[in-house]
Amino acid sequence: MRYLTVALTKGRLAQKTLDMFEQIGITCEEIRDKNSRKLIFVNEDLKLKFFLAKGPDVPTYVEYGAADIGVTGKDTIMEEGRKLYEVMDLGFGACRMCVCGPESARELLNNNQLIRVATKYPNIAKDYFYNKKHQTVEIIKLNGSIELAPIVGLSEVIVDIVETGSTLRENGLKVLEEICPLSARMIVNQVSMKMEDERIRKLIRDLRGKE
Ligand code: PRP
Repeated sequence: MRYLTVALTKGRLAQKTLDMFEQIGITCEEIRDKNSRKLIFVNEDLKLKFFLAKGPDVPTYVEYGAADIGVTGKDTIMEEGRKLYEVMDLGFGACRMCVCGPESARELLNNNQLIRVATKYPNIAKDYFYNKKHQTVEIIKLNGSIELAPIVGLSEVIVDIVETGSTLRENGLKVLEEICPLSARMIVNQVSMKMEDERIRKLIRDLRGKE
């Protein structure tokens, strides 16, 4: 039997994914060791390999088949637009992709004004404003702390993830429009889905069964 390789998203999502795998008897002690600098972890009995990657790189590993399976956020999957199968909503990491800004920006959105939109997700923002709303906007790519942009006058609104809403509240911003709900998803390489059909389907069944 060949190894199946699973790409996990570094950080909170990886911890939750490993918890979920543990519940169906898939364990990997080594990967939990925070002091380890190892990059790849093996479960010899189950013929599984795991590695940790930055979220946006997970769909890349999966598209090219360097990982058979990946777990990352729906936001990342949408933004990267890779060729792969999204096979399961894992339920955790639930949040929303939203257009946010000060209350005063609501008018600009409603009047189809040419506004600036700061975001870590330029493809999602483009798709939403150009294809769904048919509104021409200027998209400005940022890499984090997106809420700063409307505060310091870089943009009128932002497209960003809202989980509890506390970052917005603490900075005087609001959800102005909701784009879509998000959560962690399992993705599969298109060739692996055919070649390893049985093992992958069993994994999905086991994960569904534990709900
Ligand atoms: C995300 C997101 C918001 C925040 C939302 O940022 O970009 O800033 O979490 O969470 P809340 O609604 O619970 O306040 P993250 O912490 O991932 O860091 P970033 O700002 O570097 O993107």
